[in-house]
Amino acid sequence: MPEADSNTEQKEFYLDIPAKNQAFFLKGSGALDWGIQNRLSRIFNPRSGKTVMLAIDHGYFQGPTTGLERVDVSIVPLVPYADALMLTRGILRSSIPSASRNAVVLRASGGPSILKELSNEQIAMDMEDAVRLNACAVAVQVFVGGEFETQSIHNLTRLVDMGNRYGVAVLGVTAVGKSMTRDAKYLRLAVRICAELGAHFVKTYYCPEGFGTVTASCPVPLVMAGGKKLPELDALKMAASAVQEGASGVDMGRNIFQSDAPVAMIQAVGKVVHEGMRPEHAFDLYQTLKNEMKVEAPVGR
Ligand code: R5P
Repeated sequence: MPEADSNTEQKEFYLDIPAKNQAFFLKGSGALDWGIQNRLSRIFNPRSGKTVMLAIDHGYFQGPTTGLERVDVSIVPLVPYADALMLTRGILRSSIPSASRNAVVLRASGGPSILKELSNEQIAMDMEDAVRLNACAVAVQVFVGGEFETQSIHNLTRLVDMGNRYGVAVLGVTAVGKSMTRDAKYLRLAVRICAELGAHFVKTYYCPEGFGTVTASCPVPLVMAGGKKLPELDALKMAASAVQEGASGVDMGRNIFQSDAPVAMIQAVGKVVHEGMRPEHAFDLYQTLKNEMKVEAPVGR
């Protein structure tokens, strides 16, 4: 039991200081409930407003992807440098130390393998399990223009309903079919549909022409997808351009874990995203770290 409060009038109510009504730092997210805002604040660094997400969920449809054959060996050393991990619950439970401090973004859609029609996905996990795993968000693939477009959008809206109920954010991932053009016109359509239907943040590809119109079309935070492996300097330039043109960070997989020096690369990406380092300078850092096998303190942690 606490001691009885003092009867003397020594309390301080700071009558001259009005209570602050602080705006939430993420675009379009001010009306979200406290729990979702708090979880988003673990994905996005409140100091920079940005995130470096490490995407390692590829196995959910294509099995042991190059660089992900042994997550425990090749990915765990990268974990301290990522703000968030995007992965399946199977890899999380089996291969990621539970003492890790990263935000977790769980892959929540799936079904077909690369041998089948990829857009034929369904919701692949219960929101209750996401909460049990202390996830900050779940991710769902949205196939705008794909064969099972409506089904994938229905997956998104059901997850948004569940996410709002439990306070877990939902990441809408725009999946661009092989036959589709990744131009600004298509990406604007796809990201806007995700946001309109309730995604709390959206992941999409960078396009060299008009990416700023894509981020402007998206009323919630947008993170840039990495895509196929590029030379390290090109990947750093792409990340820098995306952030300069309005992206709230990156969600990169192969361009990090398939790099010659993944630990160096993720640190270089972090400098570009969180500190606005020029890509050429970040590439110098990458080469220095690669050559010296030196490990720098994680960005923002
Ligand atoms: C993207 O649609 C999937 O979530 C992938 O498994 C992954 O996130 C892709 O990452 P990246 O293209 O950067 O290797």
